[in-house]
Amino acid sequence: MESRTLGSVVGLGTYATFEGDAARARTVVDAALGAGTTSFDSSPMYGGAEGALGRALEGRRQGTAVATKIWTPRVDEGRRQYEDQRRFFERVEIEQVHNLVAWEAHLPWLAEERDAGRIDRIGVTHWSAGSFRELERALRGGRFDTVQLPLNPHERDAEQRLLPLAEELGIAVIVMRPFGGTGAPLLRRMPSAAELAPLRDFGVETWAQALLKWVLSDQRVDLVIPATSRPERVAENAAAGSPPWFGPEERAYVERLARI
Ligand SMILES: NC(=O)c1ccc[n+]([C@@H]2O[C@H](COP(=O)([O-])OP(=O)(O)OC[C@H]3O[C@@H](n4cnc5c(N)ncnc54)[C@H](OP(=O)(O)O)[C@@H]3O)[C@@H](O)[C@H]2O)c1
Repeated sequence: MESRTLGSVVGLGTYATFEGDAARARTVVDAALGAGTTSFDSSPMYGGAEGALGRALEGRRQGTAVATKIWTPRVDEGRRQYEDQRRFFERVEIEQVHNLVAWEAHLPWLAEERDAGRIDRIGVTHWSAGSFRELERALRGGRFDTVQLPLNPHERDAEQRLLPLAEELGIAVIVMRPFGGTGAPLLRRMPSAAELAPLRDFGVETWAQALLKWVLSDQRVDLVIPATSRPERVAENAAAGSPPWFGPEERAYVERLARI
């Protein structure tokens, strides 16, 4: 799999897939590590996902990166979430402010942790285009290293200002919701094998892979984090993380298929 700024280009999201189910997390994480995935995204908002992910990664953290989040309006509660995370994961490589919640209050202590070398990167996330102006303001402050945002053929608002801004400021981009989020609305209608045939030379065998490759063919994207509860899908998704990448023609073709 290709590596960019944050490690393997296909990571693993953990929203609503295994929650507190440690056994399921273990099989999914086994598949991810086996497929060359190095980045794992979580949050205190995802039920018991952080604890389950931490147990699944125990003893095999070398070469991996945990990207998790602080999700609370209160700094003291944020610090408590961080302490829990250090117990779950030993260390947090990427600490993000979830959905911009109290980002100005959390930024100073998160930057302090990063500057002391206890966190590699700090970031900020939002899922809604309605909050992209605020996300932009947070990035323009110049202190965040990563931004997490939605990007798929049905959700392209980030292309207007956020992706160019991240590129200009050298901020790494993590893409959430590559299939449109929980329930994967973009996967509801699967193009036929004949429709996917023109993408076969790019290593694409499934519609999920076409969508992931569509995201990663934008070189401003560093990491995409599809979530799945099924080990076989982890391998399928990871396989989309190798070149060759789509050019403008193939990207436009995927966009047309996604509109049908
Ligand atoms: N505000 C934020 O910070 C924020 C918001 C949203 C998401 N995120 C992060 O981004 C991650 C990804 O987003 P998401 O989970 O919302 O949505 P997503 O990755 O677009 O879609 C997840 C859904 O896709 C299905 N799926 C995965 N691989 C598949 C495949 N190969 N074939 C068919 N179905 C497949 C999964 O179902 P199965 O389990 O049945 O495979 C799951 O229901 C999250 O897990 C989370 O880590 C962050």
